[in-house]
Amino acid sequence: MARIANVVGARPQFIKAGPVSLALERAGIEELLIHTGQHYDPLMSERIMSDIGLREPDVNLGVGSASHGAQTAAMLEGVESVLLANPVDAVLTYGDTNSTVAGALAATKLGITTGHVEAGLRSFNREMPEEINRVVTDHLSDILFAPTRNAMEHLTREGLSNRAILTGDVMVDALRAIDLERVPTPEWANGEFYTATIHRAENTDDDHRLSQIIESLDDVDRPVHLLAHPRLSRRIDEMSLKPKRSLRIHGPLPYTEMLATLSVSSGLITDSGGLQKEAFILAIRCVTIRRETEWPETLEGKWNVLAEPDENLSALMKREVTQERDNPFGKGNAALSIVERLIEKVIKR
Ligand code: UD1
Repeated sequence: MARIANVVGARPQFIKAGPVSLALERAGIEELLIHTGQHYDPLMSERIMSDIGLREPDVNLGVGSASHGAQTAAMLEGVESVLLANPVDAVLTYGDTNSTVAGALAATKLGITTGHVEAGLRSFNREMPEEINRVVTDHLSDILFAPTRNAMEHLTREGLSNRAILTGDVMVDALRAIDLERVPTPEWANGEFYTATIHRAENTDDDHRLSQIIESLDDVDRPVHLLAHPRLSRRIDEMSLKPKRSLRIHGPLPYTEMLATLSVSSGLITDSGGLQKEAFILAIRCVTIRRETEWPETLEGKWNVLAEPDENLSALMKREVTQERDNPFGKGNAALSIVERLIEKVIKR
């Protein structure tokens, strides 16, 4: 029987692997689910996995948090030993985290066919650890599953078009699988409010930038509910930042609750990649506190705008948006395209 390994480790990867895991099961292909343990807090890991319907991992390497080099090295060693002990026909990695690059490097060095889901994204900002992870993973991998036409163009420009295939985005598959109206939202999610998330190192680890962001979020004309990643909560404590006006701080929400909350928000303020897209698909205005985005499609019609940390968020949220929108992320059948391509390329039935 054919067997495919899925390497996951951080919150967004559980979401991306969910639809692929299901499509593998439907195709009668065995899955070896390897969790690197990069994320380990229940709200960042188990709760998200069960929420998306991902089964229990076969292996959890328990790597946890460390510097980039130490964390990636521990995952590389761990994934390699799992793959040596458990032969598979191909390895899939997802997105742009340290778990992604470790999985791709371990597999390709063992001569195993490696597929990268969400290939071809570029911010062209090499100060982001994710950008390094994306470029390295794309150049290592044998099959590049690109979510958008822009991603295909980046891969073509880097000489990788012969390995690339346009599949659409697996996050659309995940989103479409949920009946949002049936998902309960937190009791604070009523009336007019904005949802916010901030977790990128470029925003959380720079004292000046972070205090400006917290100040701006606290200065909005309606409540801002910030769902804080553990990295951000720790920084807010360390810097003794105390919101006084519009800002309310909570812990992270499980995936379905997050989407249901977003869908009833008046707008989103974020630096997450996934949420920019989810807001676009749900027709929620988004302000992204970054200098660039890997998802330029979301800027179309001003559904998403990039902003500096000290911008007037209330004014930005009142901008005009176009009502007509394209569907640049696909129709929600990306996982099926991925599995079909794997069957064609590596599973000789
Ligand atoms: C990682 C990804 C990022 C992705 C994000 C999603 C890399 C380089 N970055 O960033 O692309 O958008 O996941 O959330 O891989 N922490 C906890 N509990 C956890 C996990 C992390 O407390 O379960 C804290 C620790 O203090 C840790 C810090 O968050 O040092 C950073 O965690 P890390 O795994 O290095 O990266 P993320 O910021 O989560």
